[in-house]
Amino acid sequence: MNILLIGAGGREHAFAWKLSQSSLCENLFIAPGNAGTASCGTNLPVTVTDFEKLAAACITHNIEMVLVGPEEPLVKGVYDYFKRNPQTKHISVIGPSKEAAQLEGSKAFAKAFMQRHGVPTAGYGEFTADNYAEGVEYIKSHPLPIVLKADGLAAGKGVLICQNTIEALSEFELMLQRSKFGEAGKRVVVEEFLKGIELSVFVLTDGEHYVLLPEAKDYKRVGEGDTGLNTGGMGAVSPLPFADAAFLQRVKEKVIEPTIAGLKKDQLEYKGFIFFGLMNDDGEPKVIEYNCRMGDPETEVVIPRIQNDLVEMLLATEHKRLHEIKIETNPRTAAAVVAVSGGYPGDYKTGLPVSGLDAEPLPGSIVFQSGTKLQEGEVVTNGGRVLVVTSFGESIAEAAEQSNYMMEQLFFEGMYCRTDIGFEFN
Ligand code: AMP
Ligand code: GLY
Repeated sequence: MNILLIGAGGREHAFAWKLSQSSLCENLFIAPGNAGTASCGTNLPVTVTDFEKLAAACITHNIEMVLVGPEEPLVKGVYDYFKRNPQTKHISVIGPSKEAAQLEGSKAFAKAFMQRHGVPTAGYGEFTADNYAEGVEYIKSHPLPIVLKADGLAAGKGVLICQNTIEALSEFELMLQRSKFGEAGKRVVVEEFLKGIELSVFVLTDGEHYVLLPEAKDYKRVGEGDTGLNTGGMGAVSPLPFADAAFLQRVKEKVIEPTIAGLKKDQLEYKGFIFFGLMNDDGEPKVIEYNCRMGDPETEVVIPRIQNDLVEMLLATEHKRLHEIKIETNPRTAAAVVAVSGGYPGDYKTGLPVSGLDAEPLPGSIVFQSGTKLQEGEVVTNGGRVLVVTSFGESIAEAAEQSNYMMEQLFFEGMYCRTDIGFEFN
């Protein structure tokens, strides 16, 4: 079958790499893709939210399945757009409906969903300009630290962890009275700070059944030792030593199963990946957030560990047959290291030539690309996160060391990466 993958990051390169290995995938198209995905299929110059052009491309190229990588098209309703159009409604779209994507698109929607379906999460209050004074009182009487979240998508910047009440009140005012996050911050979730170790758990669901995918941890801070500004993710590892069978069993029973039952009960149409951002508080899982897609760079360690045919898994999702799929996982450890443009997550240059990509990677390593593009046949930088090297090893330290070594063989001006991914497990 012909497949269209929507997105342009390292996540999409990992998906494209995996999809193109399937004998069920005849032609793979990626919109818009990057220089890495161009080696797995055909890139189409269509942006991820241009639904009209995406649908037209599907008709032209006889596409039968669409896999949506990033959240933006999902939250904006790409699923519904395809299902409403008589010429595209037969196409399998892997991703939730617009309403179900609110699990990521609206933190207030997600919190109410969790509360309604008994999914453990931080206690919270929800405020707008209309109950502003109530919010001020809520914050004043709340223990510290306290967490403020802009309701809508805010490019990963909408979460503030405040250590004192004055800071929390001032941020609350900036969001609700001075539009700090624009529309996304017109509603604010104020919640309890959760203690523990953070991890990400992923499932693929057909709305009724699910398969549990390998868990992962990502490294969000730009600096060594988890310091500095937040980024999209500087690295990832999988599996996690602390996510043992007993903990994962609790995650299934307390988090995943009530979530999937909740989707069904609320009649939320969901065929796709769910990303559970969890806190492990002394063995008890609590949900920090839902994402309606896979993570980046988590996908770059999760997907290489999955030994099943991904197209077969996605077809089972479409046909509500996921209970027939048994996940086969590579037991070895994968560690991904991300190389970013100098200055990221602030301003950075683009269009810089990338070298070293022609060399054959070491056995057990894969070089994925994220912010790159082809310019006159040459790979140049085209974003903050540029390259991702994933390596397998017998331990997190061994896998990360090989990714670091591989990263040294690659170069672009101003390139920076963390060399301590997985440091806390050494
Ligand atoms: P989010 O944008 O929801 O992914 O939040 C960004 C990060 O803020 C999360 O990955 C956590 O590290 C942190 N965070 C969010 N909510 C909480 C919470 N209630 N308690 C502790 N940390 C949190
Ligand atoms: N790495 C975090 C995310 O994809 O949201």
